[in-house]
Amino acid sequence: MKTVNDPEHEGAGPAITPRTRARARHILDHYYIGPARDDRVLEIWGYTDRYTYRPGDTVDLRVSTTAPNWSLEVGRDGVNYAPVMHVADLPGLHQDTPEHCSVYGCDWEVSHSFTIPDDWTAGAYLITLRAERQGDAVEEHHLIFVRRAAQAEPAAMVLVCATGTWLAYNCWGGSSAYEGITGPERNAFSPILSNQRPWTRGFCKLPAGAPRALTEKPTDPEGMVRYAYMEWAYAYGYSKKYASAGWASYERHFARWAEAEGYEFEIVTQHDLELEPDLLTGHRCAVFVGHDEYWTATMRDRVERFTEGGGRVARFAGNFLWQTRLEDQAQTQICYKYTAKDADPFMGSDEKHLVTGAWDAPPVNRPGAQTFGVNGLKGIYAGLGNCVGQGSGGFTVYRPDHWAMKGVRLGYGDQLGAESKVFGYEVDGVDFCFDDGLPFPTGKDGTDKSVEIIALGMATNVEADFSHWGETLYIGSADAEFKALILFGERKEEALDKSSRGNGAIVSWKSGDGEVFCAGTCEWVAGLARRDTQVETITRNVLNRFCR
Ligand SMILES: [Fe+2]
Repeated sequence: MKTVNDPEHEGAGPAITPRTRARARHILDHYYIGPARDDRVLEIWGYTDRYTYRPGDTVDLRVSTTAPNWSLEVGRDGVNYAPVMHVADLPGLHQDTPEHCSVYGCDWEVSHSFTIPDDWTAGAYLITLRAERQGDAVEEHHLIFVRRAAQAEPAAMVLVCATGTWLAYNCWGGSSAYEGITGPERNAFSPILSNQRPWTRGFCKLPAGAPRALTEKPTDPEGMVRYAYMEWAYAYGYSKKYASAGWASYERHFARWAEAEGYEFEIVTQHDLELEPDLLTGHRCAVFVGHDEYWTATMRDRVERFTEGGGRVARFAGNFLWQTRLEDQAQTQICYKYTAKDADPFMGSDEKHLVTGAWDAPPVNRPGAQTFGVNGLKGIYAGLGNCVGQGSGGFTVYRPDHWAMKGVRLGYGDQLGAESKVFGYEVDGVDFCFDDGLPFPTGKDGTDKSVEIIALGMATNVEADFSHWGETLYIGSADAEFKALILFGERKEEALDKSSRGNGAIVSWKSGDGEVFCAGTCEWVAGLARRDTQVETITRNVLNRFCR
């Protein structure tokens, strides 16, 4: 008798039984993208040894595939995708992947190398690895690398990709900084993550129409909560985290918009910022976009030194929350997060200020607002599930006369970016009080009193529960419990209540001899991608002033 597990018995799927139905919650549970470790499954995966290269540098590609041959295409991923190199008929090698590759790396052999020629324009390049085998559909895997500009002529603007956050959300091989197969029960996130492994599916290239993390329609209060991007990811075999981080969801939208607008800019990564002390020297404006949650102390030091010396910082990004450490020439990222107090070996040492917990909590105690005017603990979710699920999707404008608002045509109390959904899915906030209808920073969270709050929106750490029969909430109240624990030392009701509310802010101020503008939201780029003229005008006002 044939069973459904028999590979020859293709076609009919298993019946939904009470046991399989119990597993049907998987779109919210941990699942990951990774190797099948089975020659019968056609697959191709790869990674580069570094994220950025200069002309003359060699790119070492490490590829594992079950196909006898594979091919490679490299193309510049700018306003238009432009292929620059094809290599066909490369011999395939199915390489062994260690079980804990997310933690320690894949350690694959180099499969193919190429040198970056002088005539490739600076920018981001998409690598497509393609495997074909008789009787199988074509398999593709995508990676991204940056061709750095020549050092002698720094562009006015430099876009710093949030590779710390990409790495934290990369689930390839089993574990990310959120969920995983680490620990004795094989069910824990990993505080140690290697970048020597492929990017998960959806970080480098996405099909048109892939939902963004922030829902486009408000939650229906009569219906069950929905998480459209996770449903889409599960249906199409993409990473559950595809909409949370990566080139395709975030930096790509800014880079394409800025290039189409005619801005000259260099692209670098946070890893370059870590490794090159003078990376920002010579640039007038450093730009950060998207979901930008994980930073080292060194990266922050360099940005603060830049603004003190007259540099301008434009941050169109959200969720400035965790301190990390980079080790092994920046190939390994450490972030103990929720477990830092108990597990980070730096606790109790002379270097406890480098413990990989939240910036605004002990023992780090380095307010995020000192660098960007806002911080992650004061903000968090909006437009995700029932977390401000019926909000406008935009900011409320309080200071329409601010220089950044020139020509935007929004008045006091108007909504900015509600149509294009720029507010969420994680935002950074500020401790403020109202005086005569205007918000001012209290300074309690380390925010400089000279910070001007241009616009605000509401965020929450607790997902609203409308008690629908059969509903499962993804966010729940775990983040509020963590915040209560690190800020008030307890999870009791009062501490939990005080930890539940947040906001997202657009702020600006003069910092040192420089200046900072921060729209503290992950989804600002959605306004650029969807051509929201008011979001575009503000972005131009900031960049034109800062790049002058
Ligand atoms: Fe985040």
